[in-house]
Amino acid sequence: MDGEKATRGDNAPRDEIAQAVSILEAGGLVAFPTETVYGLGADAENVEAVASIFRVKGRPTNHPVIVHLSPEADLDYWVHSIPAEARELIAAFWPGPLTLILPRASRIPAAVSGGQDTVGLRCPSHPVAMELLRAFKGGQGGVAAPSANKFGHVSPTTAEHVRQEFAAELGKELGLVLDGGASEVGIESTIVDMSRMKTHGPVLLRPGFITPEQIAEVLGRIPGAADAGAPRASGTLSSHYAPNTPVLLNSSGLLKKRAELLRQKRLPFAQLLHSMKEEEGACATIRLTPRPDAYAHGLYAALRSLDRAGAFAILVEDPPEGPEWQGVHDRLRRAAHGSESTLEKL
Ligand code: TXA
Ligand code: MG
Repeated sequence: MDGEKATRGDNAPRDEIAQAVSILEAGGLVAFPTETVYGLGADAENVEAVASIFRVKGRPTNHPVIVHLSPEADLDYWVHSIPAEARELIAAFWPGPLTLILPRASRIPAAVSGGQDTVGLRCPSHPVAMELLRAFKGGQGGVAAPSANKFGHVSPTTAEHVRQEFAAELGKELGLVLDGGASEVGIESTIVDMSRMKTHGPVLLRPGFITPEQIAEVLGRIPGAADAGAPRASGTLSSHYAPNTPVLLNSSGLLKKRAELLRQKRLPFAQLLHSMKEEEGACATIRLTPRPDAYAHGLYAALRSLDRAGAFAILVEDPPEGPEWQGVHDRLRRAAHGSESTLEKL
């Protein structure tokens, strides 16, 4: 993978893990690195601590959060009944960027799942996350964590992004940010609903680094598309993961035309490219490697950086098509949601 790799927790020494554990045990919030994006964590079994995640994030309380577990966690503690297919996916992909929605055990507070009778579980592979989860409640606790960003904003892939996002809360509601380097995957986990196996089979709620084809290699079938009865997932809202600057998705031909229009109007534009030649006159340009893993790794940092360029719009060259690009297309589509109207005013 290009760029910085997720480093082992050289930046998060052992005493910081101990400090993070005491903050979690006391009902506080800790931000921590995962291989996908950074999470804003609280003790999943402490209803007040979970409520403070929603408060700090500015997220509606009926939105479920993912519970992060250590590789040694006892799944039967968290899940009412585990379908055999879920065990197969766990064996194939955990620790790693796959979240499974399963029937919630009654002892687990409904607060983590926004009142739904399911629970989203994931076992992250980032060494600092694993160290934290193994140290918390002897490796049998669960850390409820959404991405460590304000509701609807771009997810953080470095500790610095989290510090910027929660500058006002750090040292107060947010006790500590563990630094584990840049998240290797860069976009959020693939989410598969397995809570309705008998009636609906596996259902893809959010595409990510692990593709439907990889899931089919294990289960022998492609997960279905979400239907109206599928569990609600806020990452599936049409506008999500959005910078403040309008994001416009374009073929290279359209990008050229729009750059020309903005130049004529003397409006600053930023560009996110992977193959085409740079348009002249951009106030900021970032070029990502046209490989799905490298592109996803750099995407959110690029959007954050271009968002600070003071541009009227961020022009994005459409990424290549293909199943392994699905996660990237999904996030860009959400980042761009509603932005087309900014051009209508010109
Ligand atoms: O990669 C990730 O998944 C990152 C890292 C921190 O693990 N987390 C993340 O969390 O993206 P968040 O809260 O930003 O998005 C989690 C998604 C949401 O769309 C949420 O609605 C869905 O997971 N989710 C969690 N539990 C669920 C449940 N019981 N039923 C349906 N959706 C659920
Ligand atoms: Mg999120």
